[in-house]
This record gives sequence, C-alpha cells and structure tokens, in this order.
Amino acid sequence: MKYLIANWKMKLTIAESMALAREAREYVESHDTADLHIILCPSHAALSEVGKILSGSGMSLGAQDVAQVDRASLTGATSPLHLVELGVAAVIIGHSERRAYFGETDELVHHKVKAALAHGLNAIVCVGERKEERDRGETEAIVRRQVRAVVEAETALEKLAVAYEPVWAIGTGTPVHPEDAVVQAEAIRDELAKITGKAEEVKKVPILYGGSVDGDNVLLFTHSPLNGTLVGTASQSKEGMRALLEALHSIL
Ligand code: PGA
Repeated sequence: MKYLIANWKMKLTIAESMALAREAREYVESHDTADLHIILCPSHAALSEVGKILSGSGMSLGAQDVAQVDRASLTGATSPLHLVELGVAAVIIGHSERRAYFGETDELVHHKVKAALAHGLNAIVCVGERKEERDRGETEAIVRRQVRAVVEAETALEKLAVAYEPVWAIGTGTPVHPEDAVVQAEAIRDELAKITGKAEEVKKVPILYGGSVDGDNVLLFTHSPLNGTLVGTASQSKEGMRALLEALHSIL
C-alpha cells in the first residue's frame, strides 16, 4: 500500500476544497487506485463538505491538527471528538508550521498523538530538522529526538504514521535528496523499534516523506523504505493533484 496525503493547509476556500475533492474523486473513479491510500486534509472549516464528497470514494478524510484533550476551555480548538463525528480518519500532528507559528512543543505533540489515537484516529506525526540543524550535522539526532518525545512503548503502532519533513524543504521547491530521506526513514523505524520493542510491527508503520514533492519527483519518495508522501503545494491545485495521481497510478 502506498500513501498520498494532501495537506491543503489554509490555502483553499471551502468551495475550492470541494472542487478539488470532486476532481480527485473523478480521477479515482476512472482509474484503478485500490493500492493507493489517498488522504485529503482540508482545513477544519471544510472538513464537513469535503467529507461528503469523499464518502464512498475509497479516499479518506484527514485533518491538519487536533486538540490534546476531548473537552476543555480551549477557545478555537478542535476536539478529537469533533474529528470522529466528522468522519475524519487521520490527522496530521506536529507539522513544522504548527511548531513554528503556534508554539507547539514535543510535549504538546505527544499529548495530541495520544488524544487522537485514543479515539481511533490515525496519527500522522511530522518530524524534521531546520536548516541550521542540518548544517550542524544534527539531522538524524533531531529526527530521533522528535520521535522519542512523541511515541512511547504503549503507542498503538497500527494507527501511527511518521512523516519526515525537513523544515527547509517545505514549500521551497527543493526536496531532500531521496537517499537522505531513506536514511531518516530507517532512523525513524529504528527509533520506533527501540521505543516499543516491536520490530515486526514497526515494519508496517508507514513512513512518509514531505517537502516540495510534486508529480515529477513523487516516485523518488514512494518506494521502500518510504511508503509515500505528504504533499502541500502540489496537492493544492487541480493540475498539481492530477500530476501526482498520474505519476502514482503509473506504478500501481
Ligand atoms: P510542500 O509542503 O509540499 O508545499 O513542501 C509539504 C508540507 O508542509 O507538508
């Protein structure tokens, strides 16, 4: 099973999100994409409408964030209960934009992952180094530390995915070298196995790459030990989405 996760961030209106979801649905209904797990992650405001369009399509609905508790005086937050009610299957947690612009710490990401998993949501945890950390040769240490901070021995591995997203590669048009992504994917699996002691189950945890993926390079990041990609910019337009789907369809 290969993964394509579309992170639409706050780039599309509700109407635009609906139109793009319809386009994706038309594509999957006219091509055999059974071996491709497509998860569309619109903004929270568009979840309900996009969910209706995806219903019965084989594609899944994803969210871009979740609160760390079910009910609390947390103005503006979205509970895991809401996501479940909306038919959300997966949620991106700890994206570097949440860490940078909303002050999310490893500890908060850890609690969000726990909250999501407790409600049966799939948690797509983002990890990745900043440019200065890479320049100091700290990439793998940062990635391992972020995994360690978020996952614990009891974490439900069957609902977990980890996306390696180097911060400097996001939205820049410059993806990481595929070999570097492979090194980090192996480090993530190794760290998961150390934390949980479940080496066999860890092999099944999807490890994704994200950062300037598009239709031209998606296949470089969609083979073992990687299981697919988390795509921002290229997934936010009809043309970009189509190019991604066509490239992936060619290897199914
Ligand atoms: P990008 O974003 O594809 O625009 O680099 C990826 C992400 O932020 O998940």
